[in-house]
Amino acid sequence: MSVGIDKMSFFSSDMYLDMVDLANARNEDPNKYLIGIGQKKQAVIPNTQDVVTMAANACEKIIDDDNRKKIDLIIFGTETGVDNSKSAAIYLQNMLGLSRRARAFEVKQACYGATAGLQMAKEYVTNHPDKQALVIGADIARYGIKTPGEVTQGGGAMAMVVSSNPSMLEFEGPSTFYSDDIMDFWRPLYRTEAVVDGHYSNDVYVKFFKNTWDEYKKITGLSIDDFKAMTFHLPYTKMGIKGLRAILNEADEDKQEHLKQEFEYGRKYNENVGNLYTGSLYLNVLSLLNNSTDLQTGDRIGLFSYGSGAQGEFFSMKLKDGFKNDQLADQIDTDLKNRKRVSVEEYERIFNNWIPIKDGDINLDYENDSADFFLKGVKNHQRI
Ligand code: HMG
Repeated sequence: MSVGIDKMSFFSSDMYLDMVDLANARNEDPNKYLIGIGQKKQAVIPNTQDVVTMAANACEKIIDDDNRKKIDLIIFGTETGVDNSKSAAIYLQNMLGLSRRARAFEVKQACYGATAGLQMAKEYVTNHPDKQALVIGADIARYGIKTPGEVTQGGGAMAMVVSSNPSMLEFEGPSTFYSDDIMDFWRPLYRTEAVVDGHYSNDVYVKFFKNTWDEYKKITGLSIDDFKAMTFHLPYTKMGIKGLRAILNEADEDKQEHLKQEFEYGRKYNENVGNLYTGSLYLNVLSLLNNSTDLQTGDRIGLFSYGSGAQGEFFSMKLKDGFKNDQLADQIDTDLKNRKRVSVEEYERIFNNWIPIKDGDINLDYENDSADFFLKGVKNHQRI
């Protein structure tokens, strides 16, 4: 029996900031952002969207009555939680009408949270093949206006249904993981923006990738030639190129070109929405599945997950017959194309008005939010 991802979907806001506009406002050469960082656009998340509503909007596209009957494990990976106590998973369970006979909880280890959830879900479904698990990776990446990290902000939610005999992707073989107490990126409780040692974080990321990849090859006997494509946690898309470059010399020239081409397909969504933190790796996977022109059932892809602080994990999955859902893929293209471009001034206004740390009742101007799930406001410390 195989276990893996049966359905996958993505949601982000209907507004974006163009990276050329941002570069001009920050007196940077636009090519630094477009080529040096590898980002074209960045999702701007309004106050009417938080990780719960974004996750619900992502789930709504894929969850049907059969899932409602079978899902009894809901794992919400995030580092932008809406409450220090109650999990985002419980809100989501109610909003989606999922079964009350479920375990629902939140997981945190920076951008690694969704992978922790996915691996737990894999074990659970392996032991309970008639059940399904819902795994979420949803975040809003915030570094601060006029900081070096600003160009790597973004946000959105990925939703994945894990089942036996999945239609999209099946887990294959072991994972290799590595963790260490490292201060490359963190967010103390009193802050709404991350603290980051940017260049150091890049180095640690590549080291963790090499470490887990080398161990993976040792354990499995597989080599780079056995992979159709490599996917990465993409805090910004150039980071994935740095990862890929660290192992490309293990392949011949043709294979190198092939892996670089697959990477281009895989980064299409990420370069248009920015960092999703927990969801970024899975957005890279979805982008690869939807945009690559030469993937086939049975192909093996590598997945590298990284969460600052730091945890790394490498594993592989194989493509199943239904790896591409044309209807959902077209919907993503349309949604990305129809987003509203906001000025740098408008983005800064939205950024500075972020509400999670504001006390007291709040009424939000939600009429302009086109999503099905949105936040109306806060009353008596309760989100509506
Ligand atoms: P910076 O100092 O502004 O940029 O910070 P830079 O000077 O290093 O330049 C960036 C690249 O642009 C360089 O290329 C330049 O050469 C190039 P590289 O050497 O890296 O290949 N460049 C140009 N290219 C073309 N034309 C030009 C031009 N000018 C320069 N005219 C940094 C960059 C990424 C450090 C910053 O944006 C940052 O701190 N970002 C946030 C941290 C981050 O994303 N780290 C990634 C690894 S950690 C991680 O992935 C976990 C994370 O997601 C959090 C979590 O786990 O929760 C972040």
